[in-house]
Amino acid sequence: MTDEKARIGLVGLAVMGANLALNIAEKGFGIAVYNRTTARVDEFVSDAGPLAGAITPCTSPEDLVAAIQPPRAIILMVKAGAPVDATIEALLPHLSPGDMLIDAGNADFNDTRRREAALREKGLAYVGMGVSGGEEGARHGPSIMVGGPAGNYEAIRDVIEAIAARYRGEPCAAHLGPDGAGHFVKTVHNGIEYADMQLIAEVFGLLRGNQTAVRLSEVFANWNGGPLNSYLIEITAKVLSAIDPRTGQPMMDVIVDAAGQKGTGRWTVIEALKLGQSPSTIEAAVAARSWSAMRETRETGQDLFGAPVPGAGPLEADLESALLAARIIAYGQGFALLSAASEEFDWSLDLARVAEIWRAGCIIRSGLLNDIASALRGTAPHGQLAFAPAFAEWLNQTVPALRRVVAHAVQEGQPVPAMSAALAWFDTMRQARGTANLIQAQRDFFGAHGFARLDVEGDAYHGDWPA
Ligand code: 6PG
Repeated sequence: MTDEKARIGLVGLAVMGANLALNIAEKGFGIAVYNRTTARVDEFVSDAGPLAGAITPCTSPEDLVAAIQPPRAIILMVKAGAPVDATIEALLPHLSPGDMLIDAGNADFNDTRRREAALREKGLAYVGMGVSGGEEGARHGPSIMVGGPAGNYEAIRDVIEAIAARYRGEPCAAHLGPDGAGHFVKTVHNGIEYADMQLIAEVFGLLRGNQTAVRLSEVFANWNGGPLNSYLIEITAKVLSAIDPRTGQPMMDVIVDAAGQKGTGRWTVIEALKLGQSPSTIEAAVAARSWSAMRETRETGQDLFGAPVPGAGPLEADLESALLAARIIAYGQGFALLSAASEEFDWSLDLARVAEIWRAGCIIRSGLLNDIASALRGTAPHGQLAFAPAFAEWLNQTVPALRRVVAHAVQEGQPVPAMSAALAWFDTMRQARGTANLIQAQRDFFGAHGFARLDVEGDAYHGDWPA
């Protein structure tokens, strides 16, 4: 403990908050901490070892505020939703104009916009800060996506850059835009995370029929040395090789196949639909998590219709290329969504910068992100990553494998919703004349909704339909 006032404060000492606080203390910044269950504060300090000297334990919101140098910066790392509002309410009476609250949790960006506006009215600043990298990242270097007033970021920039992950020496932290921009970018990061995880799970489903978990682990480890290189492929190899100490079986064989979800994937899809976007690979991944939770329904379905019988499976090289193609499409859909939100909310998001700060620290970090950053700094026609020259070439090489893999899976009856959704997007986007002329005709037939013609200007023509 120190007599000097702390540089920064933090509320919420659960796993993420505790690790972030230790990271800050380790980088040499004095930090005051508070937790609603105050016993946790003592436990945290006594576990902090040599870092305890940089930590000021506080037993009330008032104590916490008093322990920080003004103008104060206080990180909130509490559960999204009502607990964030309750924490803000508890701190408010003790804050002074110019102080800032930094919400570092996974917040719904609509809440962040609302809170930012409300605090601004009171002369206070609210910074919505997306933090990715799980427990390990929080402790040793996460990717940090900051939204809110730019001047407030400047005031805490030294702390944020010091605790962030580094990619070739550059901190993976940036101020991305005002109000909810940081939390929106984090939400889309998680949407892409859902898509990538689902794509990997689909490939696992196609491979596992004729291979042991250990062999599968080798396949993923091998892919991690190539263009699929990424944290998620790396940990897939690791989890596949794990053995359950209780049964001696591969861990994969004892885990229930029902995926949890805290909501960020769903938020991505909800916001995308509101913006007239459809990131099909992310949508499919969210749907697949919901379907995974319907275990009893699936058991009844299996009794009624029979489960698919796994055959020889597609070639490993095809699966590797298919995964790369679908991953490119998923990332591209995420970036297109960011671009739409930036336009709608007037954020001027620098998409290449987003890709840059995702290159290290976050869950979707991958070799591809450096190429994505370069592509987004160059020309990507219609803002589509898939159309940027380097990615168009990659897709030309890899989509045939995606097509073979999806066809094989469909033929065998193996569900590959995310890969199919990625392929459907690609096939739609390479067809200048699609089939919506029929939909327009149907709409005009039953509701006189009107349509545009290819041969004349205007969009309110009606057909001379048979009765
Ligand atoms: C990260 C993770 C992190 C968390 C997700 C898990 O970027 O560090 O995305 O935010 O692990 O919230 O989300 P689900 O529980 O929805 O899978």
